[in-house]
Amino acid sequence: MTAPVDFSQIQGLVRFGYGSLTEASFLLLTIRDADAARAWMRFAPVSNAIEQEAPPKTALQIGFTREGLECLGLSQDTLAGFSIEFRAGMSGVPGRSRMLGDIGKSDPEHWAWGTAGKMPHVLVLLYAQPGHLSEWSEAVKGTGWDAAFDVLACLRTSDLGGFEPFGFKDGISQPSLDWELKLRATNDQPTYTNLISLGEVLLGYPNEYGRYTDRPVVSADDPYASVLPVAEGAASSRDLGRDGCYLVLRTLKQNVQGFWQFVNAQTASGPEQSDDLAAAMVGRRRDGSPLGPLSEAPIPGIESKTAAQNQFTFDTDPNGVRCPFGAHIRRANPRNADLPTPPVRGLQRFLQILGLGTNDLQSDAKASTRFHRIVRRGREYGSRVTIEEALVESENAGTHGIHFICLVANIARQFEFLQSAWLMNTKFDAMTDESDPLLGNREPVPGAAPTDTFTRPHEDGVRDKIHSIPQFVTVEGGAYFFLPSLAAIRYLSRDSDDFLAHASFVGEQ
Ligand code: HEM
Repeated sequence: MTAPVDFSQIQGLVRFGYGSLTEASFLLLTIRDADAARAWMRFAPVSNAIEQEAPPKTALQIGFTREGLECLGLSQDTLAGFSIEFRAGMSGVPGRSRMLGDIGKSDPEHWAWGTAGKMPHVLVLLYAQPGHLSEWSEAVKGTGWDAAFDVLACLRTSDLGGFEPFGFKDGISQPSLDWELKLRATNDQPTYTNLISLGEVLLGYPNEYGRYTDRPVVSADDPYASVLPVAEGAASSRDLGRDGCYLVLRTLKQNVQGFWQFVNAQTASGPEQSDDLAAAMVGRRRDGSPLGPLSEAPIPGIESKTAAQNQFTFDTDPNGVRCPFGAHIRRANPRNADLPTPPVRGLQRFLQILGLGTNDLQSDAKASTRFHRIVRRGREYGSRVTIEEALVESENAGTHGIHFICLVANIARQFEFLQSAWLMNTKFDAMTDESDPLLGNREPVPGAAPTDTFTRPHEDGVRDKIHSIPQFVTVEGGAYFFLPSLAAIRYLSRDSDDFLAHASFVGEQ
C-alpha cells in the first residue's frame, strides 16, 4: 500500500509552474568546496509543494547532475541506482546526441554549457514576483555561497506574457498528476485521458505500468538514512529517490526572423495564409486555440481553466486535414490511447487486441501517449518580437529562445522517446522525409531523402508539401539533473558541520 503524498517533501515545481513569479533566473554552479556546499544546502529555503493561501512571493528549487552528486560524496553504489541516461549525461555519448538530434549546429561541441569542462554540478532555480529577483537572489546566497560555489552560467529569462518567442501562446497543455493515488493504471486504456499516474513524474510511486521506476536507495544502516522514507517494496532500504524526479534542461535558441521570413515567403498570398501555415506547423493558432473542434464529452484530467483550449483529441481528424500529423503538438502528444485511433469497439476491438485488425498506414504508427508524457516548466529568454519586426531584415535581431525544462520519472521513456521518436524522427505517423517543423535540425541522413519537408493534407486527399525548411531552433546547452525531495537534500547535505557560519542566513518562503 503506497503511503499518501507528503507535499512538504516535494519541490514545488513538480506541482506548480510559479506562473505569478514572472522573474526567474537559473544558476548553473560548480562546487568549489563540498563541505561549504553541504552547509549552504542545509539552510537553503527550498520551496515545497504545499499549496499556500496567497501565491508565494519567491521560490527556490535545487537540482544536481551526476557530477554534482559525486562531488557531494554520494557513493558509487548509490549512484548506480540512478538511471543510465542520468549517469551518462545528455551530451556524453555520441549515439545519444544523434538520437536527440543534437548534431550539426546543435552538436554539443558548440554548446555554451553542459559538456566536459562546462558541466554544472548544481542547478539553482530562482523565481520572484516582478522587481524582487535580485533581492531574492542575494537572500538565497546568504553567507558561505562564495566559498561553496563558482557560477558557470546564469541563464536569464524574460516574461513574454505567456507567449514563446515565435509568438504562440505557450504553457497550455500539461498532464494532470494523480496526486490522490487513485489510478490503477495497469489496465488497457481504451480512450485518451490527461490524468497520469504520479509515478510517471515522481520516483517512489507506481507508474503507468503499475510498477516503481528504478530509483536510488540507500541501506537503512547508513547513519544518515533516517531522514529518508522507507523504500516501498524494499523495507531494508531507504528511498533517496522518493518524491524526487529528473529535470531535463535545454537551452533552445530560436531564430524568430528566420521562422517568419520563411513562412511569409511560402505564402505570398498574404498575412492570413502565413498565419495559417505557421499555425499548421505548431498545431494551434497564435492565441492558443486548437485547429479542430473541442470534444463534446469531457476528457478526464483536463483542468477546467484550460478546457476551452485543450479539451480535444485528434480522433475527429484521422487524416490530419485540420491539424497536420507533423504539427509540433500532434507529434509531441498524439492524444491517443492504447489501441490505434479512432477507437473501435466490439469484435473489431477484440481483433485489434489480437493484432488481426485492419492494418492501414496509421493504425499502429504511434505508441500510446500515456507512457510518454512530460511536465513542462521552461521559461523564455530574449525580448518579444512582433511578426512585422521579424519580417524586417536586421543584423541586430537579438537572441531569443526557451530554457526548456521538463520533469519526468524516466528520462529514456519520456523525454528521450518524445524528442527522438516523435519530434526529431524523420519517419513518424506514416510520414517520411520530415521531422518537427519547429525543432528539426534538417541535417541529411546518409543515403536517405531530405529531412526538411512539412506535409499538409487537404480534404480532397491532396497533400501539400513545403520543402527546404531551414533550421529554426539550435540547442546551445543542456544537461540531466536530479530534482531531489527535501528529505533527500537533507541526506545529501549530511556532512556539514558549519552551522554557525550560516546563522545569519535570512530565507523568505
Ligand atoms: C523552441 C522550442 C519549442 C517551441 C517554440 C515550442 C512551442 C510549443 C507551443 C507553442 C506549444 C503549444 C502550447 C501548449 O500546449 O503549451 C507546445 C506544446 C508542447 N510542446 Fe513544445 N516547443 C518547443 C520545444 C519542445 C520540446 C523540446 C519538447 C519536448 C521534448 C516539447 C514538447 C511539447 C509538448 C509535450 C507540448 C504539449 C502538446 C499537447 O499536449 O498538446 N516542446 N510547444
